[in-house]
Amino acid sequence: MCGIIAYIGSKRAESILLEGLKRLEYRGYDSAGVAVIEPDGHQHVCRAVGRVANLESKLEAAGGFKGSVGIAHTRWATHGGVTEANAHPHTDDQLGIALVHNGIIENYASLRTYLKEQGHVFTSETDTEVLAMLIGELYDPEQGVDLEKAVQAALREVTGAYAIVVTCEREPGVMVCARKGSPLLIGIGAGEYIVASDASAIIAHATQAITLDDYNVVKITREGFRTSTVDDVELSPKVMKLELELGEIELGAFSHYMLKEIYEQPNSLRLCMKGRLDKREGTVVLGGLEEFSKELVRSKRVILTAQGTALHAAMIGEYLLEDFAKIPCECEYASEFRYRNPIIEEGSVVLAVSQSGETADTLAALREAKSRGALSLGVINVVGSTIARDTDAGVYLRVGPEIGVASTKAFTGQVMVLTMIALFMARRRFMSPEASARVMAQLEQIPDLIERVLDTNDQIRKVTEKHVERDNWLFLGRGYNYPTALEGALKLKEISYIHAEGMPAAEMKHGPIALIDDGMPVVFIANQGPQYDKVLNNIEEVRSRGGHVIAVATEGDKQIESLAEDVLYVPDVPEALSPLVTVVPLQLLAYHAAILRGHDVDKPRNLAKSVTVE
Ligand code: F6R
Repeated sequence: MCGIIAYIGSKRAESILLEGLKRLEYRGYDSAGVAVIEPDGHQHVCRAVGRVANLESKLEAAGGFKGSVGIAHTRWATHGGVTEANAHPHTDDQLGIALVHNGIIENYASLRTYLKEQGHVFTSETDTEVLAMLIGELYDPEQGVDLEKAVQAALREVTGAYAIVVTCEREPGVMVCARKGSPLLIGIGAGEYIVASDASAIIAHATQAITLDDYNVVKITREGFRTSTVDDVELSPKVMKLELELGEIELGAFSHYMLKEIYEQPNSLRLCMKGRLDKREGTVVLGGLEEFSKELVRSKRVILTAQGTALHAAMIGEYLLEDFAKIPCECEYASEFRYRNPIIEEGSVVLAVSQSGETADTLAALREAKSRGALSLGVINVVGSTIARDTDAGVYLRVGPEIGVASTKAFTGQVMVLTMIALFMARRRFMSPEASARVMAQLEQIPDLIERVLDTNDQIRKVTEKHVERDNWLFLGRGYNYPTALEGALKLKEISYIHAEGMPAAEMKHGPIALIDDGMPVVFIANQGPQYDKVLNNIEEVRSRGGHVIAVATEGDKQIESLAEDVLYVPDVPEALSPLVTVVPLQLLAYHAAILRGHDVDKPRNLAKSVTVE
């Protein structure tokens, strides 16, 4: 989704801003822009449709910017098409105020009407320009309304979500930032500050950052900063250490972040488990949940909620919690849950699963359940993110930053954490220490087993080559591997743009079987498990209609070779943990399909890494 980077210090802002924009590219965007207060005292703006490289060429052609205070943005269109006029930064029409914004101003239409009545002339279709104009309308330094106060006053008038950074040529050494609902961090460098929507754009310059809460406004100068609320109540800033290493967000020897992150999974899962499995006691150690262990033991129902890939992990979590902890569960799209008038009885726990911790629908569902009295838990990757801060308790994935737009290592991390939460609750409810320790020992094997799957990458590529021209695919699985089938289909469609549907294998007979024609690729997750024989029957049904079966099967299964056109083998893993290995060939298959079709895997069309709007 949109990205923000801003700089105030003594260096030339332009190169820092462009470098920051490139680090934000992974979030998905369709235009970019930069505004710098130049030595001539004026705010200069440059914007371009398309990649940051286009903006860079435009700046170069114009001789570049020299100033040391500037703001920049990558835009993912919401209000108004993908045009240069709609790209950020936006300015007011009089005073040289420039603004970048992530989020949505919901009451922009009425504000726009009001501002037009005051004589303002708009040049874009965006909600953001309305905010720039409103700040300009309220700015009146002669009456004591400086940039900080004008921003506070404007934000008191708006509804919606925002992370903004504002500069003004009349106050060239000042930058004002604010947030509500969209993330924003202020990196503290030596005599300089770097503001960004994402820590990855800051870490090259700062190891400490100020985190903002909703309705916080920060005025920054080269000498220091002041934090307040929109009502101008002064606050003490919250400073956090940035734990990210530059190496974690760089590609290294890999051609794409997605591939890097697929290959990181053995190690990311080792980190995820590290120090959390006490096999001697048969207990899982999850510091974040200890305080609420009594409530969790007594809880009567768990509602898991998420979107996209995180929802598929949550669905596996539902099976795990029911199997291990014997607790009634339900799992639902956050976007549906929040508007359904859900019934939350006493003893309900809501568990939000999110890589970014910023997904608008997931956050809203969580808040809805909390307001109705549920205990709220988070399974989140990004430390300090909004959902992580909003929940009563939670468990971080600890799988490192996920840059690839198509989620891979976060998915396996989410499934691993949900397995540990299920064991945490199970042990305190019904499970014996021996049974729990047995599952832990199996979990510890998973990283090595994933390595074995990664070793088959060449074969996965060859199988993909055989079928990549086909435009419609099905992914089928049962039980724990029904969500894996959904995930395999999502991965394929989001980066290769091949139409793919995932569903429970048994559902195929109820309609979708009509789709199967000669050579249609149908991926079956057919590992050895309680429903293996049933899956074989479903495979026969596809074969007899001419479909080409690609089976993900357990090593040593010879029977499947006579039924499937192609077999992708995975090691033998207990059913409850099997998605952690069966998903890996599907991730690689999607990766190869996208490459073979000539797509940019890390910048899939129309997609954003973090969906912070409804
Ligand atoms: C797909 C993908 C998305 C996200 C979804 C939720 O590869 O990445 O489907 O899983 O947008 O995002 P988070 O986990 O950040 O809440």
